[in-house]
Formats: sequence, C-alpha cells, structure tokens
Amino acid sequence: MTDLNRRAAAILTVDLGAVVANWTQLRDRVAPAECAAVVKADAYGLGAAHVVPALRAAGCSTFFVAQFEEALVVRAAAPDARVLSLGGLPQGSEADFVGNRIWPVLNHLGEVAAWRRFAHAQGKALPAAIHLDTGMNRLGLGPDELDALVRAPEWLDGIDLRCWMTHLACADEIESPVSAQQLGRFRAALAQLPTAKASFANSSGIFHGPSFHFDLARPGCALYGVNPTPHTANPMRGVMRLDARILQVRSIDSPATVGYGAAHRVEGPTKIATIAVGYADGYLRSLSGRGHVHVDGVAAPIVGRISMDLITVDVSGLPDHAAQPGGLVELIGPNRLVDTVAAEAGTIGYEVLTSLGPRYHRVYSDPYAPQ
Ligand SMILES: Cc1ncc(COP(=O)(O)O)c(C=O)c1O
Repeated sequence: MTDLNRRAAAILTVDLGAVVANWTQLRDRVAPAECAAVVKADAYGLGAAHVVPALRAAGCSTFFVAQFEEALVVRAAAPDARVLSLGGLPQGSEADFVGNRIWPVLNHLGEVAAWRRFAHAQGKALPAAIHLDTGMNRLGLGPDELDALVRAPEWLDGIDLRCWMTHLACADEIESPVSAQQLGRFRAALAQLPTAKASFANSSGIFHGPSFHFDLARPGCALYGVNPTPHTANPMRGVMRLDARILQVRSIDSPATVGYGAAHRVEGPTKIATIAVGYADGYLRSLSGRGHVHVDGVAAPIVGRISMDLITVDVSGLPDHAAQPGGLVELIGPNRLVDTVAAEAGTIGYEVLTSLGPRYHRVYSDPYAPQ
C-alpha cells in the first residue's frame, strides 16, 4: 500500500480490465458492426486518460465525446483513433477540428453549411458525421432540415460523410414503443439520403438486437458497469469501487441528534461512524438518511444529512472490531452496485459516476497485467 493509499480520505479504484472486458463483450454482440466507445464527461467520471488507452489497446478505434476539449484528451491518449465530438461545431472552431483530426457531429444545417464552406476554403473534403433527430427533439436535423437535405443533396458537397447517426430516447425501457418508432424514422431517412455508414445504438440499444446495430454502436454506460438492461440482471462487469475512511466512531448513550439540521434523532445507545466523504466529492446529498454503505461486509445506513466532507453512518449493529477509525467502508463496489446507490439517491447510475469528485485518490489496475 502506498503512502497516499494509507493517507487518502477516499479511494476510487478503477478496474480497466473490466472496462475492456465490457467493451469486448459489446464488440462481440454487435459484430460485424463496429463498436465504438463513448468517453464523454471524462469517461463517465472514471478518467478518459486511462480508459481510452486501455480500450485502444484492446482494439477500439472510434471514440465519442461531447465537447471539443474532451476530444483533445482522447486525441492525446489515442493518437491514431477516430474521435467524434457529439456537441457539434462551435462557431469559428473549424480549424481546431481539422488541426486535431477531430470529426464534428453536425447537429443542424447551419453547422453543415459551415463545415462545407470551410472544406471549400481548404480545397479538400472534410470528414464529419451528421445527427438526424428521430424523436428526441434535442440535437440533430429535424424533419424540415431532413427534407431540405433530401431535396438538395449539394448541402453535402465537400463533406466527407462518415456516418449518419441518431440517438434513442427510451432504449432502457423495453416496453416503450418509442425505440421502434425511431428505428422506422431512421430507416426511412437513410433510404432517402446519400449512402454512408449509420450509427444508432447506445448501450441499451445494443440489447434490442441486430436490427438496432447498423454499422457503428456507441455504448457508454455499459462499459462502466451500469446495467444497460434494467429489466433483467446486469450482463456487464462492475468496474469501480469507492472506499472511504472512518474518521471517528462515537457512542451516544442518551437521546440526541446527529449532523446538520439535527435531521436524525437517536433515542437510545447508538454507535455513529463519521466517514470522510461528502457532497464536495460528488457523493450525492440525496443519499441523506436513505443510502447505505458496506462496513466489513454488512450494510449500514447513512443517518442524518450528508455534509460537504462527511457522512454519518449508524454502525450500532456491527461488532466493535468491524468499524474502527482508520478503516475503510465501501460506498460503491461489489456489495453496493452503482445502480443500487443510484436508486437509493433517486437518480441514475450515469449521475453517480459522472459526479465522482476530483478529491478521490484514484487507483487504476493495469488491464494487461498477468491476473
Ligand atoms: C448521442 C449519444 N450516443 C451515445 C451515448 C451513450 O449512451 P449510453 O451511456 O446510454 O450507452 C450517449 C450518452 O448519453 C449519447 O448522448
């Protein structure tokens, strides 16, 4: 154990081998389609600078981010990979995209026109993807813009179109009719447009079957262990654990309250462990009085409000040796799955992961080390 591991208030351990195993599983599921990796928001909070080289070494050659600055991180971590930025083409950024070999996902005809103009000025066709909105009403060319493109395909002159893409609104809801509707709209659009590759499925979409795979799948959350099939057992491996240090254990003998707002009241003898994690670490405040941690293999309830740097846990049910100052408790990990923590917090695994804070001491396993 390093000094930092010993000193650290909380330790985030990322198993890059599990990320790679999850990507490999999805790659095999979508073959012969290509499997990309969505690594926006710093690889969903787990660290793009670590995740990207591991996936690249495993054979992943296409990465999606949301923003240009994120694309630069991927470009540095995987110099020969294809990098696409989902957030479009910010005004005046064309030269930055070209200079760093980043492909914009063009989200409206204004961006298509700007890319075309820049390509003409450069005297060469420039690669890009185009996002079609099939029902999310968020990003992508809407029905009118699609019609305009179908009527005048010269919009695409000078654009080296690598991919048409769209995004599912309800992929994780197996009963929802929306995915089939979007599939129909995407197919109808592709039938009218110049031929290029197509990309449709996110993590959950991959599990809808081959008709959703097209040429390029774009999984994100499943790579990081979030269940892409919430209606059934999680087919993915857990990839991270988060442990935090017990700072104090105190015994309360008579009726008293715990923490801010005196929000938790104990009536009789109670043992409270104070643990070094809080909302400043992205440990969601909505877990106040609702969440659990695992102490020596036993679930113990978070009591009182989560504060900036601390949480309080009722460890009355545990033997003294299990909860000792200096020891670690499991906040997320094999006993407390990301999706379970998310459900307790009233949110989704994506938010739990992307909230993981900068103060954690981060430890990355080497996916290629002998097991
Ligand atoms: C356009 C797009 N494609 C793919 C993904 C990956 O989705 P998921 O994390 O559900 O696999 C996202 C994530 O939000 C997205 O916005």
